[in-house]
Amino acid sequence: MSLIPKEVVDQILTQADIAEVVGDFVSLKKKGQNLWANCPFHHEKSPSFSVSPAKGIYKCFGCGKAGNSVQFIMDVEGTSFPEALKYLAKKYGIEVPEDEPNPEYAKEQSERDSLYIVSDFASKHYQHLLHQHEEGSIGQSYLKERGLSNSTIKKFELGYSLDAWSDLTDAALKAGYKQKYLESTGLTIVKEDGKKYDRFRGRVMFPIHNISGRVIGFGARTLKSNDKKSPKYLNSPESDIYHKSNVLYGMYQARQAIRMQDTCYMVEGYLDVLSLHQGGIENVVASSGTSLTEGQIKLIARYTQNITVLYDGDAAGIKASLRGIDLILENGLNVNVVTFPAGEDPDSYIHKVGDEKFKAYVAEHAQDFISFKASLYAEEAKGNPVKKAEAIREIVTSISKIPDPIKRSVFFQSCSLIFDIDEQLLISEYNKMHLQERQQKQQRSGSPEDLAEAEAFEAEQEEIQKPATEADSLKRYEREIVRMLLNYPDKVLVDGQNTCQYMLEQLEDVEFRTPLYARLIEVVKEKLQQGIIPAADDFINYPDQEIRTEATNLLSDPYELSHNWETHQIYVPHESDLLPYGAERAVLRLKWRNVQLLMKSEMEKLRLVTDPAEQDRVLQIIFQLKSFEKQIGDLLGIVVNK
Ligand code: CTP
Ligand code: MN
Repeated sequence: MSLIPKEVVDQILTQADIAEVVGDFVSLKKKGQNLWANCPFHHEKSPSFSVSPAKGIYKCFGCGKAGNSVQFIMDVEGTSFPEALKYLAKKYGIEVPEDEPNPEYAKEQSERDSLYIVSDFASKHYQHLLHQHEEGSIGQSYLKERGLSNSTIKKFELGYSLDAWSDLTDAALKAGYKQKYLESTGLTIVKEDGKKYDRFRGRVMFPIHNISGRVIGFGARTLKSNDKKSPKYLNSPESDIYHKSNVLYGMYQARQAIRMQDTCYMVEGYLDVLSLHQGGIENVVASSGTSLTEGQIKLIARYTQNITVLYDGDAAGIKASLRGIDLILENGLNVNVVTFPAGEDPDSYIHKVGDEKFKAYVAEHAQDFISFKASLYAEEAKGNPVKKAEAIREIVTSISKIPDPIKRSVFFQSCSLIFDIDEQLLISEYNKMHLQERQQKQQRSGSPEDLAEAEAFEAEQEEIQKPATEADSLKRYEREIVRMLLNYPDKVLVDGQNTCQYMLEQLEDVEFRTPLYARLIEVVKEKLQQGIIPAADDFINYPDQEIRTEATNLLSDPYELSHNWETHQIYVPHESDLLPYGAERAVLRLKWRNVQLLMKSEMEKLRLVTDPAEQDRVLQIIFQLKSFEKQIGDLLGIVVNK
C-alpha cells in the first residue's frame, strides 16, 4: 500500500465523485440511471462507456475497462495507485503529507510517474525564478509588455529559465532527482564528454499540461526580438509522457469552457491562447504551430463536436492549412472558420480592439468551413471555367470527407448555390471520385480494411439507391413529403404555389402506400378543398389518435443539422430557405421509388403471362418505366444501374 495514511485514502475515496472525475476527461450524457460517453480507452463512434454515480464506478461495454475513480485515473494516465490518489486529493483540496524520498515509495512509482515528477519540479523551479529571482524580472517585464496579467501568468504557471548553463540541472540533481529522468524529459542535455547543460536558458517558460493538469513538457520563448542564431521557440522533445501529436496547448485550462460552450477555438500560438483566455474566451487551444493531427482532433472530440479555427490574416497561410481541416471533417466534427485582417493574429488583434470587440468580431465572422472554402475558390475561379472545374473538385473532396450523409447533402445543396451549378453535378463528381478511389484501392491491395471500406461505400450507395427493404424506403420517402407538408404548408415555393399545392399537384398520380401517410394526405386534401391551408394545429388536435401522434412527431422532427448549427450561430442555409429545392427532390425521390416498385410488379407479371401479345404490352410498359427511372435518376444525380 502507499504511504499515504489510511484515513486520508478513505477521505479521498469518499469525496471523489465518479461523474466529476470522469467528466474532466469526457463529455458525459445522462441516459436513464447512468451517464454515457464515447470510451476514452478505445476508439468508438457511439457511446458504450457508462458511469454509474450510484455505484461510484465506470464500465465500458466495448473494451471491458471498469473500476472506481482511482482506477479511472490510473487507466487514463498510466500512473500508479498512489499517484492517482494524489491527483484526486489535489482535485478535492485534500491535504496529503509531502513525500520524502523513500525507497519503498519509489518502488511503487512507475517510470512515467518519475517523468511527471521531475517535470513538475522543473515547472515549479521556473515559476520560482520568474517570481523570486532577480533575473526573473526580465521575464516578468516581457510578459507584462505582451499584455499578460499576473493572474494569467499564475493560471498558466508561466516561468523563467536563467541565462546560465546548468541552473535547473544542478538544482534538480541536488534535490535528489535522477539524471536519467532529466535526460529523458529533455530538460538536461548531456554532451559526449559527459558535460551536462540545460536545454532551456534565458527564456520565458510555457509549461504544457496534459488534460489532468500534469506538466508533461515545455515551450520556451526567447526574449530577444531578432536573434537569428537561436529559434524564437524551443520545445521539449517527445518523451514517454509527452506525445506531441496527442497534446494541445491550453486544453487543461480550456476543457470545462469547451464543454460549456460546446465549441473549441483553435489558434496557432501559446500567446494566442493566453491572450484570449485573459480576455474571457477560455475555450481556446493551440496546435503550437504544427499541423493538426488525428490524435489532437480526437482529444477535442471528447468535449465537443464543434471547432472554430481562428486564422492569422495571410491568405497563403490559409490556403496551406485548408487541407488540414479535411482531417477534422473526416472525424465527423463541424468546422467553422474566422479570419483576421492581414497582419493580425488573434493575440495581436484582441490587444488592438479589446475583449468585447474581439468577441463580436468572432461571432460576426464565423463561417462554416465548407462555405468558406467554396466562396474562396469560387471567387478565384470567376469567369474561368477551367479553374471552376478544379475548384469544384477541391470542394467535393472536402465534402466527401464528411462521414454523415445528411450533412453532406446539406453542403452539396449550399455549394450548388455558391457555385451556381446544379447539385447533381456535385453529387456525380462525388460518385466519380469515390469510384476512382475504390478502383485504386482494389488495384493496390485487397486488404480487409480496404474491402470493409469498399463495402461500407457500397452499402451507402445502396442506401441512396436501393434501401434495405423496399417498404422501408418507400415509407421514408412518403414520410419526408408529409413532413414537409406539415412543417411548411403555406410556404410559397414556385409560381406562387405553396407547399401543399405544389406537392399535391406533383404527386397527383402517385398513390401513398403507407396507410398512415395516405390518411394524412387525405386530411390535407380535405382542408384544401374547403379552401383552408392546413396548419399544425389541425393535425395536432385531430380526432384520430394515430394521426395526432404521427403529426406531432413530424412537427417536432426539426431538420436536424440546421437546427443544431443555428444554436452555434453558424450560417448554414435553413431548410426553409432551400425548400423549393428540397421539395422538388423529395417529390422526385418518391416518384423514383414508385417507378421502381411498378417496374417490379410488371416484371412479376411478365413471368406469369403466356400470351405473346400480352407479353409485348408488358414489356412496353417496363421499357417506359425504365426510361422514367433514368430520367428521374438523372435529375437526382443518381447513377442508375442498367
Ligand atoms: N513555434 C515553435 N517553434 C518556432 C516557432 C513557432 O514551436 N520556432 C510554435 C509556437 O507554439 C508558437 C506558434 O508556433 O506559439 C506560432 O508561431 P508564431 O506565429 O511564429 O509565433 P507567435 O505565437 O505569434 O509568437 P509570438 O507572438 O510570441 O511572437
Ligand atoms: Mn504572435
